[in-house]
Amino acid sequence: MKRIRCNSPDETLDLGRRLGVAAFPGAVMALEGDLGAGKTLLARGIGLGLGIPGQVSSPTFLLMMVHDGGRLPLVHADMYRIGSCGDLEQVGLHEFLEGTAVVVVEWADRFSEWLPSDVLWVRMDFVAGCPRSRDITLEASGDVHRVLESCGDG
Ligand SMILES: Nc1ncnc2c1ncn2[C@@H]1O[C@H](COP(=O)(O)OP(=O)(O)O)[C@@H](O)[C@H]1O
Ligand SMILES: [Mg+2]
Repeated sequence: MKRIRCNSPDETLDLGRRLGVAAFPGAVMALEGDLGAGKTLLARGIGLGLGIPGQVSSPTFLLMMVHDGGRLPLVHADMYRIGSCGDLEQVGLHEFLEGTAVVVVEWADRFSEWLPSDVLWVRMDFVAGCPRSRDITLEASGDVHRVLESCGDG
């Protein structure tokens, strides 16, 4: 487990970039945190680290976006508006899990039972009194994703 404080949007973007550089085929990053915590910004950084052309933005209304053209494909999903496991099946995210893509899921805690057992949990917390700071906790739930925790070393 690794905790890192990011004191600006750029620091969060850079943490995402490091995660994207370190990401491996089949990596799953499960993002957790309230609205505005910075999940989409972190996903954008992951896209930068993977060399995805163009900007990764919020998939809230599309639920899932596949970004090609980088070192590995990036699948960016958002569970915010997904109401049931049936909806989840329709989105088709399961087709990408355990493949060669890097999968980043916002609001992953809404359907955590549905994720593979070995993922990187990224919890993003607001910091009281510091509107531009976030406490970000990286915690692998299995051995495969442990290597990504070191991205929090700066
Ligand atoms: N340290 C920080 N890390 C991430 N975002 C920050 C930070 N400080 C301020 N912000 C702002 O918070 C907002 C985060 O938005 P977004 O990434 O869309 O959040 P989410 O996807 O979690 O709802 C952005 O407007 C960003 O500029
Ligand atoms: Mg978002």
